[in-house]
Amino acid sequence: MPTTYETKTTRQREALKDFFGGFEGEQLPAELLDRLLQYEELMIKYRSAIREITTKLEILNDELSSSTKQNPIESIQSRIKRPQSIAGKLKRLNQPVAVESIARNLNDVAGIRVICPFINDIYAVEKMLLQQDDVRLISRKDYIRSPKESGYRSLHLVVEIPVFFSMRKENIRVEIQIRTVAMNFWASLEHQIRYKNDSPQVQEIASDLRECADTIARTDEKMQALRQRILTHTEE
Ligand code: GTP
Ligand code: MG
Repeated sequence: MPTTYETKTTRQREALKDFFGGFEGEQLPAELLDRLLQYEELMIKYRSAIREITTKLEILNDELSSSTKQNPIESIQSRIKRPQSIAGKLKRLNQPVAVESIARNLNDVAGIRVICPFINDIYAVEKMLLQQDDVRLISRKDYIRSPKESGYRSLHLVVEIPVFFSMRKENIRVEIQIRTVAMNFWASLEHQIRYKNDSPQVQEIASDLRECADTIARTDEKMQALRQRILTHTEE
């Protein structure tokens, strides 16, 4: 007797065969269909982990906005890395481009970006999230205290979270980038410029971009100080 899981995958395999195998009368090898299924299953896991973390963040934001009337989170974005980017990164790392290799070698297949109003909110959100006993910190890079050469600022966390499926529990990794609205504004624009940049003035542009990042950082700090002043005044 096949298990429910086996019946389900057999049915999925048949459906995929209909879809891809019918192409010009050719049949796709069963092995390829299996790999497609494995890939799809892995992406479901990453999508589930994103949902778990997003929910945790939304709950924290709801709780705090009702008690303090201030939202530590402005918005949350998420994405699953695309197959061609996954393959490209595995190649760069000299690792096999195979489904089994993905979870072992990459930490950023599931990515969440948390946009906060003020710098302090970033560290508050980090603390509240890492305090939860099912969230395990794998790595942390503070590009706010130590900005990148480009001027880039954000707090990067890689966390592992258990996700419960019908047959078992799995620990899934998610990369979380936490930044202010202003840092996000700079990163989005810089990303657009960088990828279109084949101009001879690369050096000059890079230095101008760094200058913009520094100006933005000073503004973030000023806004933070302003909020602090207003809060202290209200408490008095
Ligand atoms: P990757 O192989 O790029 O993932 O490097 P890494 O594992 O060392 O991660 P890192 O901490 O450098 O962060 C990588 C991610 O941060 C990128 O995918 C971007 O989303 C973001 N990032 C890092 N540096 C920059 C930058 O200079 N500009 C912008 N716009 N984004 C950056
Ligand atoms: Mg990355």
